Amino acid sequence: MAHSYNFAIFMILSISFTLTSVKGDLIDEICSKTDVKKVCYYALREDPRSKGAKPEGLMAIVIDLSQKNATFACNLVSTLLKGTTDPKLKSRYTLCLGNYNKASDIVAKMPDLLKSKDYYGLSANASAAIREPSTCDNNFIEPPVEVPKLREASDNLRGLIDVILVLVGFL
Ligand SMILES: *[C@@H]1O[C@H](CO)[C@@H](O)[C@H](O)[C@H]1NC(C)=O
Ligand SMILES: *[C@@H]1O[C@H](CO)[C@@H](O)[C@H](O)[C@H]1NC(C)=O
Repeated sequence: MAHSYNFAIFMILSISFTLTSVKGDLIDEICSKTDVKKVCYYALREDPRSKGAKPEGLMAIVIDLSQKNATFACNLVSTLLKGTTDPKLKSRYTLCLGNYNKASDIVAKMPDLLKSKDYYGLSANASAAIREPSTCDNNFIEPPVEVPKLREASDNLRGLIDVILVLVGFL
């Protein structure tokens, strides 16, 4: 009797261990499909809200981080624009500000699209938004080079929106 009791406890522990590892695998499964794995893992593993979250919960987290990153990029570009007198940089930053404002407006609609389960709309909007940081970067193909801070903000935002595109397939 005692043996079967111990066995039952053992089984319960193994099953809950297995379930916990399966949840860990979900993040691996998602991040392995993304372009910038470092951004994906950072966004999903480091956020305390992601613990045990289902794909819908992970999506809400990534949308939230994308909004914050888009706002951060807008503010960064505004600061860079105010801080330069170089006409070439002024025009590039003005274009970039347009890009990040557009990305930010699109990302701002995503929480509602998620709530209403409009996954097609979510995916279409993410595909539109992900082009904006790249369009900004393309202004810097000719020198002067893009400042590393801006390049990083752009890579992060692009990486996060790519996670949204991958995650849509899990909803
Ligand atoms: C941007 O996203 C990253 C995750 O990739 C996050 O760690 C960071 O806090 C975000 N930046 C801002 C300004 O919210
Ligand atoms: C964003 O989603 C809405 C609602 O589904 C849709 O009407 C709109 O066309 C989408 N925007 C883009 C750029 O795909």
